Amino acid sequence: MNTGNTRYIAIIGHPIIHSLSPRMHQAAFNQLHLDYCYLPFDISPEKLKNGVEALKQLGFRGFNVTIPFKEKIIPLLDQISKEAAIIGAVNTVLIENGKLKGFNTDGAGFVESLKKKWTFSLKNKSALILGAGGAAKAVAAQLCLNQVGSIGIVNRTRKKADQLKARLKKHFPKVEVKVFARFGDDLDCFLKKAHLLVNSTSVGLHSGDDSPLPSQFFHKQLKVCDLIYNPSMTSFLKTAQKKGCSFINGRGMLLYQGALAFKIWTGKTAPVEVMSNALSLA
Ligand code: ATR
Repeated sequence: MNTGNTRYIAIIGHPIIHSLSPRMHQAAFNQLHLDYCYLPFDISPEKLKNGVEALKQLGFRGFNVTIPFKEKIIPLLDQISKEAAIIGAVNTVLIENGKLKGFNTDGAGFVESLKKKWTFSLKNKSALILGAGGAAKAVAAQLCLNQVGSIGIVNRTRKKADQLKARLKKHFPKVEVKVFARFGDDLDCFLKKAHLLVNSTSVGLHSGDDSPLPSQFFHKQLKVCDLIYNPSMTSFLKTAQKKGCSFINGRGMLLYQGALAFKIWTGKTAPVEVMSNALSLA
């Protein structure tokens, strides 16, 4: 039951109906008997500023930010974390003493999900990222923060891949970053030596979507990650499976970014298993 002491957390996005975060976080609050309530809000883009101001005025403890506001939210915040500044996007906001502090837990959540599946160190490893949107930015920056040696980027729109490369080079001059314009021999060469292959495009979200990478580019040694979690098996992951690769979908990233956000708002370690169970019921 909500009381005068209840602390409120929101998630803002557009659309928001498919978000699994409310069930995941509410299960965690309930498990730890915290008087917190997590509420989804669909805010149209022109109302973002007023919406955020309303959360502040109503005394919300914080909120998650999802598509399409992860970048647009930044000018509305009082400060942002080092990771969020490097990534250029915010997915978690803490409201403290009337100040809005932005964080990005997506990248760290992604790396945490890798660590839970595989024990290898990312140091000096090589990764190919498909896509150059918001999710790609978080993944690429976090891989660099974990000292990967080289990153390859392939994106439908070349310009966005070049922009991501420039951003990474600015913050991590020692990391080798290559943009591949097409599925050709040089990409094949890069992938033969790569350790990690990540799909951060939205290709696979819809039934009937093909793999965003043709099957001849997969090889058994690659650890393959799709950031998509629904469906749990995309064509991309089915191809990885057929080729004998070890793979994960995006459910771990969703879970661990949530666990990190939970800690930011409550100061408590998240009950990850309860959150994971809440997600499996979806
Ligand atoms: P998110 O925040 O989830 O990363 P986004 O920023 O809209 O979402 O990025 C979506 C990514 O999927 C982009 O890299 C996009 O490629 P473009 O930069 O060319 O738009 C990629 N993408 C979406 N639909 C695609 C398609 N049909 N084929 C290839 N790439 C696609």
